[in-house]
Amino acid sequence: MSVLKILVIPGSLRTGSHNAKLAAAAAHEFATHGVDVSRISLADFPLPMYDGDLQAKSGVPRHAVNLKRMIAAHHGVLVVTPEYNSSVPPLLKNTIDWVSRVQDPHEARGEVFFGRPFAIAAASENRLGGSRALQALRLILSACRALVIPNQLALSFADQAYDEMDRLRKEADIEALKALVRQLLELSQKTM
Ligand SMILES: Cc1cc2nc3c(=O)[nH]c(=O)nc-3n(C[C@H](O)[C@H](O)[C@H](O)COP(=O)(O)O)c2cc1C
Repeated sequence: MSVLKILVIPGSLRTGSHNAKLAAAAAHEFATHGVDVSRISLADFPLPMYDGDLQAKSGVPRHAVNLKRMIAAHHGVLVVTPEYNSSVPPLLKNTIDWVSRVQDPHEARGEVFFGRPFAIAAASENRLGGSRALQALRLILSACRALVIPNQLALSFADQAYDEMDRLRKEADIEALKALVRQLLELSQKTM
């Protein structure tokens, strides 16, 4: 049986990003289960703002196609999103929009999402921990026909959540991350 492959996508490019730290902690947790985990930065997949005229003229940008193929090469995906004005940041929404337009030969458009297990997490400095961004992200990914696991992680007070090694400090946060990781692994194993 092939090794389970998990992709982790942080939705922030900011230096010191709380969400990038959470993505790193999650990748570490996946690795403890012996799965093959890849953590990317969307800085390596720069995309113009979606524009139908641009797509009609030049097609879907190469970076969107590359990211789609990277997602396709993994059995499950974790997306870790910041919350901007109660929703997902434009970087993440724009990336998902472009990837949903990719149509490789013998595939339906956006097929990479169909039935693929996704987990979602967020980190924010306030009490809600980005839970409204999670609602929005769940809706977007579900509309793309991804299988978004019921569990999710909203990390509150993210500015105080990590130690000097960027590890989660609180037992409750560590347990919530472990539960999220376990549930994505279980579903990814069933659908691989
Ligand atoms: C335009 C903008 C809107 C924001 N809106 C929210 C919000 O609605 N809820 C929230 O918890 N934080 C909000 N924030 C604060 C972000 O959660 C905070 O900047 C966070 O550190 C971003 O994630 P990162 O650390 O991973 O880059 C907002 C920040 C920006 C720049």
